Amino acid sequence: MTPAVNTRRPLPMADHVRGKRSAVTCELECANACLGAECNTSANEDFRSIASAVFSRRALFGLGAAAAVAVAVGVGRGAPVSAPGAAGIGGAGIPSGRPGRAGLAFRPIAPVPAEVDAMTVPDGYAWKPIIRWGDPLFSRTPAFDLAGQTPEAQAEQFGYNCDYLDIVADPSGKTGVLVNNHEYVNPQLMFPPTQDASELRRRGDVYKAAQGMSVVDIRRRKVGEPWSYVVDGGRNRRITVETRFELTGPAAGSDLLKTSADPEGRWVHGTLGNCAGGTTPWGTILSGEENFNGYFAWAADTPQQKRYSASSTTSTSTGWEKYDPRFDAHNPDYVNEPNRFGYIVEIDPQNASSTPRKHTAMGRFKHEGANIHVASDGRVVAYMGDDERGDYLYKFVSKNRMSGSRKKNLTLLSEGDLFVAKFSGDSPASEITGTGALPSDGAFDGTGEWIPLTRGGKSAVAGFTTEEVLVYTRLAADAVGATKMDRPEDVEPNPVTGKIYVALTNNSRRTVVDEANPVTGNRYGHVLELTETAGHSGTTFGWSVLLLCGDPATFENAYFAGFPKELVSPISCPDNVAFDSAGDLWISTDGAPSTIGYGDGLFKVPLTGDERGHVQQFLSVPRDAETCGPVIHDTEGLVFVAVQHPGEDGTFAAPRSLFPDYGSTAPGDVATAPRPSVVQVYRG
Ligand code: FEO
Ligand code: CA
Ligand code: CA
Repeated sequence: MTPAVNTRRPLPMADHVRGKRSAVTCELECANACLGAECNTSANEDFRSIASAVFSRRALFGLGAAAAVAVAVGVGRGAPVSAPGAAGIGGAGIPSGRPGRAGLAFRPIAPVPAEVDAMTVPDGYAWKPIIRWGDPLFSRTPAFDLAGQTPEAQAEQFGYNCDYLDIVADPSGKTGVLVNNHEYVNPQLMFPPTQDASELRRRGDVYKAAQGMSVVDIRRRKVGEPWSYVVDGGRNRRITVETRFELTGPAAGSDLLKTSADPEGRWVHGTLGNCAGGTTPWGTILSGEENFNGYFAWAADTPQQKRYSASSTTSTSTGWEKYDPRFDAHNPDYVNEPNRFGYIVEIDPQNASSTPRKHTAMGRFKHEGANIHVASDGRVVAYMGDDERGDYLYKFVSKNRMSGSRKKNLTLLSEGDLFVAKFSGDSPASEITGTGALPSDGAFDGTGEWIPLTRGGKSAVAGFTTEEVLVYTRLAADAVGATKMDRPEDVEPNPVTGKIYVALTNNSRRTVVDEANPVTGNRYGHVLELTETAGHSGTTFGWSVLLLCGDPATFENAYFAGFPKELVSPISCPDNVAFDSAGDLWISTDGAPSTIGYGDGLFKVPLTGDERGHVQQFLSVPRDAETCGPVIHDTEGLVFVAVQHPGEDGTFAAPRSLFPDYGSTAPGDVATAPRPSVVQVYRG
């Protein structure tokens, strides 16, 4: 543990409540969201019809709320590139994608014990990184130098803790662009301990440059081969905590978004906590600003602040507030700076000089990501999760229709209406016992309603102005009786069927269950399947629980859409989802080590026919890492993942992972360190 973290605020190792992950992850990634009481103290619970709570405006707002040189990174050394099939697990060694079924063919791997520091892929596959933390984007950029990191170098190198990922090929299939989020940093792995104030400040600037996003050109000799990244690619770009963003939508220009540096409330420096995301039909990238609260020294404990799980404090783990006043909300010039984070941001990866935007019309919460389906009426619908215990599921419906004009499509997310989900079950409450045992009708299922928070771009919530709905979205959703969920992570429409899949990663503190969140102390998480019953831009839906995750060997009520549970791969804490060309679901996990004792991984789940619910593990990531950003190019035999926070529970001097290069492990030898990396898996 480095003083960069420890001298400011000790990590809560001793009394940590392990909802799903390590104490270090909780501190740095989520600002210990699992440790405190649930910040959603609204009366909203489950399906009891709750008259929309009438919130006192005074209580809520009366407190003054105020050439390219291609660099091919070598195949990882020292770690197995493949693993034997898992007899009896994932289908008694039955290869997935067998004849008659489209999609990637592979023999599921056996679950890998959590302490194994290896990237494990199926027999017949190999892996190698495309790009690693610190790899230079330009020929003028210094090569990665663990001992010589500078803010200037990092601002032109691939960032830390990669999360959302897409690999977007150009029409030729031989060139393309890689886009990746960098959610947060691990100071204790990046630097040795120091007490020197000037050095801590210098490191703070490195952290600012290591977060944000990367856009990197990629190329290959022919379609179907693995990719290499391109130094000096024309689209290469880093977006950092200092990059200028334009605010769009009804809250842009609001008093709630003004600071002394931006008296018009229309420009923000940087993006924070970029977690998952999505690629739009018009080729831009959406990224969710998730745990932004951890970057600010918050001032008064206002209702608005507390609803974003932020309590007053004078220090943060990055230390930015000590020298950059915009991260110190005690400073009267910057009390609104936190209101300028927590949005969906949109970037154009095809234009390295384009201005990134933050869309206020899509609401402000701990956005996991956003993924779009084009409704039959031509409007675009973005599905979004708010990742906090007891928070909500949302969708945004654009005012205008998608057209053939890319320029017009770039404005689609600036105007439209925001909705929040309310679920109803069809089984008696007495049959939802909290054990996960199915009710007598054989399914956790029911109907739901999308409740408008804005209509015609204006507030649809009594007592809230439009700006208040869009800046204090959680409070507006509380007021209309939304259903408290078990931490909505990725929410993605299936491009083949149009059904919506919701990863609810876990909520180990759930006490009051409902049919959509049916497990008391939900440690392993679950996945919902939604069907829009009035079109994707409509306001009604049907739903059912697709998976109740867990290891069937230890959780007897684990449920896999009715598939024989003894044949599935154990899976815990679903996080990101993706689809292959056959419309089958792929799920990456974050939390398996502390819940079922295996490394996190990537799993395929067929959704149709006899195989529906047949969870099969494709890969396992190295020690302490979570699996992010899966991209499935099954027709090319390629799978991509972002490996985030490998070796997170280690230190600079004593790394617990040496992924992806697997160099020296001699005690005290810090010639290498774990490097979060984007990995491609290919037949080989
Ligand atoms: Fe950054 Fe909700 O995961
Ligand atoms: Ca039911
Ligand atoms: Ca996530």
